[in-house]
Amino acid sequence: MFSATIYQQRRLRLREQIPSGLLLFLGNVEAPMNYNANIYRFRQDSSFLYFFGLDEPALAGIIDVDAVTETLFGNDVDMDDIIWMGPQPSMRDKADKCGVKNVMPYAKLADVVAEAVKKGRTIHFLPPYRFANKLLLKNLLNIAPEEQKAKASPEFIRAVVNLRITKEACEIAEIDKACNIGYAIHIAAMKLCKPGIRESCIAGVIEGMAISEGYMPSFPVILSQNGETLHNHDHSQILTEGRLLVIDAGAETTMHYASDFTRTLPAGGRYTSKQKEVYDIVLAANNRAFNLTKPGITYRSVHLEVAKVITEGLQQLGLMKGDVEASVAAGAHALFFPHGLGHQMGLDVHDMEDLGENYVGYDNETERAKQFGLGYLRMGRKLQVNYCVSNEPGIYFIPALIEQWKQENKLAEFINYTRVTGYIGFGGIRLEDDLLITENGCRILGDKRLPITTEEVESTMNN
Ligand code: GLY
Ligand code: MN
Repeated sequence: MFSATIYQQRRLRLREQIPSGLLLFLGNVEAPMNYNANIYRFRQDSSFLYFFGLDEPALAGIIDVDAVTETLFGNDVDMDDIIWMGPQPSMRDKADKCGVKNVMPYAKLADVVAEAVKKGRTIHFLPPYRFANKLLLKNLLNIAPEEQKAKASPEFIRAVVNLRITKEACEIAEIDKACNIGYAIHIAAMKLCKPGIRESCIAGVIEGMAISEGYMPSFPVILSQNGETLHNHDHSQILTEGRLLVIDAGAETTMHYASDFTRTLPAGGRYTSKQKEVYDIVLAANNRAFNLTKPGITYRSVHLEVAKVITEGLQQLGLMKGDVEASVAAGAHALFFPHGLGHQMGLDVHDMEDLGENYVGYDNETERAKQFGLGYLRMGRKLQVNYCVSNEPGIYFIPALIEQWKQENKLAEFINYTRVTGYIGFGGIRLEDDLLITENGCRILGDKRLPITTEEVESTMNN
């Protein structure tokens, strides 16, 4: 945990943004896998962590904006708990760690909320994403789970986003740490990548290292030779000479700050010249994004510049054609680059996505596009100092998508379908770094950039 002052300051700054009412924070509870005592690894709610820092199940918090009070709800352990879990700090000690004055048993949460409801006070809550908290909210506020997202408090969401979006120095230090773990796991993966090895063997090492050096992977490992499937969690294939292996993986620190890196490796240790041609376009796109990223410009404009680099590169390979600006405006590149350039990062790998992507990645100035491809861009808004974002361009040859567009002759003035068909089976390439926005531009998070040129990757794999 950070010092109690950090959490007190955050709650004070939050309170200042909300005119009145109660702010309700629901921590997460244990989630059973296949029977009650066999649980998933506990992951605290990130907003609860941000404002209270306590990384344990079955806690809740209320900030009463009008009375200017803060209360932590949770139970002290009993002898049964001590027998199974060992001695635990008291609720009073936990509240002191995050600078909260009032402590009440968990069951009192319902009474406090009921009292406020009776008085007609506003209860601000964030959109819940776990079934247990949806059920709890239903019991507390009598709002059906399917209506809770729409009835969550926009003021509360905006205020939380306003604070969490700009990273404090102590948070940047944690994200750097997460990136250093991410660096280590990707280097280990590069060394393991050899023909004959099963994909799951590398995925398992990645997961193990994320746990041994941090808390856990920051999201389920994406690792496959079928890298044209953007989030491929199937690791059942054997590495085969001549194929590409996409590895998109990161780690959470013990404080739950995330990293997220992607590299694309030649399964046999050397890229073919055809692979290298496409790889170098993605690398140029990544570098272009890095060079453009700075405070004051929108990440959408960076995404669109990256789309130009990809379009120009694919034109040189004969896969695309026509006027580059018009092609990008029409979204033709989305056949090959159907996702966004990046997302915010922090306590969540897609930071605050539970609060609503548009609150986090967009604002009144920058609205989300509806066009295929650009519409998937999670982070489009203007960049500010101490934002953390991922930079992850890619080129993919997705057989079903190519087939569909070809059948429709879609944007045929920009796409050379005959040439594209020759790339079916190629797979996909994505290259992802994590960036911190600085006064004059940005820097790569973590101590070192992962090997990224084809020469650097081959040399790391083979030495
Ligand atoms: N690393 C997975 C993603 O950004 O969606
Ligand atoms: Mn990412």
